[in-house]
Amino acid sequence: MPTLWTQRKNNKSSLHHPASQKRVFLSKVNKLKFKDTDLILVDDYFNTQPFLEKLKTKYKDRVFVVTAGEGLKSLDALSSLLSQLQTKDIHNIERFVAIGGGSVGDFTGFLASIYKRGRPWVFVPSTWLSIIDSSIGGKSALNFGEIKNHIGSFHAAAEVFAVQGLVSSQEPQEAWGEIVKTTMLAWPKVWSQKFLAESFEEQADFKNWVWDWIKTLQKEKIKWVKKDPFEQKSQRQVLNLGHSFGHIIEKHFNLSHSKAIEYGLLFILKWSFEEKHITENTYNDFLKLLSLHHPIEVSDIQIEKNHCEALLMADKKNKGSKILMVFPSEKGPRLIWKTHSEFMNQCQYQGWIKA
Ligand SMILES: NC(=O)c1ccc[n+]([C@@H]2O[C@H](COP(=O)([O-])OP(=O)(O)OC[C@H]3O[C@@H](n4cnc5c(N)ncnc54)[C@H](O)[C@@H]3O)[C@@H](O)[C@H]2O)c1
Repeated sequence: MPTLWTQRKNNKSSLHHPASQKRVFLSKVNKLKFKDTDLILVDDYFNTQPFLEKLKTKYKDRVFVVTAGEGLKSLDALSSLLSQLQTKDIHNIERFVAIGGGSVGDFTGFLASIYKRGRPWVFVPSTWLSIIDSSIGGKSALNFGEIKNHIGSFHAAAEVFAVQGLVSSQEPQEAWGEIVKTTMLAWPKVWSQKFLAESFEEQADFKNWVWDWIKTLQKEKIKWVKKDPFEQKSQRQVLNLGHSFGHIIEKHFNLSHSKAIEYGLLFILKWSFEEKHITENTYNDFLKLLSLHHPIEVSDIQIEKNHCEALLMADKKNKGSKILMVFPSEKGPRLIWKTHSEFMNQCQYQGWIKA
């Protein structure tokens, strides 16, 4: 199957391979250049920003402002955009451009993968989360019914432009769970005491420090994507570190994804230490990093046993009564099957379950 997806020269409709993206770092948004045959979708967060006015002046009706968020990732929104293109008589689209967070990226990636059997697209991620996560790996998805990311495709953005000026309005803490997750995956190769010490020292200029660090995080994610570009094997599953328990918390408490992943990482760190995959020193270092900005404790949240069990059963990584878990270890992440009862016992043991 992968050969079908590899980009070929002069074949406009081929989809782009997840492991072959060009990545560019820019300081300012005005350094971006587009083509007259591009269709540019911009996150409504930028509605009042001068660069959007400039884009509209230059590319006129080829600029569409979309309402970011989960509502955009729907067949209704897709159908509405396609209808607008017909109404405005816009047909010669050679490439799509997404400027926005992960929702705009997912929507545009999916649209690009089906429009006239596939067109290339370019992603300008504008949130920390989308720079380190959704802009890498080639997955696009829409929600369907109650199910998140239920339909989608593998169609990577051919180019990804990370623009520092665009994310500077956000705090990197908003993506802290995912930042720490990928940092933990990079263990023990690039993560070290030195890294931790620096992260404390550089607090004053934290945004710049994270900006430099995300290049390492991107490389780490790309490394795992390359091992399993179409998720046909299990290697890419390591990117789900902290996600099994994290998703339960995200759904139960309606927390942001990244915040929930912080709790998911705390859960798996404790389990990993208990099973001696990591030493006490490593456990303490990870914990320090996780709570760099605010303390994170088991006692922050408590969940009913039945609800926790029901959410566990709905996890996509289940096979029968087992779930594939990612454990941080001294030699890098390890994939281990655990039974649901082992998972629930661990939740109980660590104190997450309401008495
Ligand atoms: N395709 C993938 O591999 C992948 C991976 C991870 C997450 N995702 C998806 O990404 C989405 C989450 O992405 P997200 O967190 O970027 O959220 P998002 O796209 O939903 O954006 C969140 C909010 O941030 C605003 N925003 C955008 N840029 C901003 C900026 N520079 N400053 C301040 N606010 C800004 C948006 O308008 C929106 O209101 C989810 O739908 C998730 O499923 C996809």
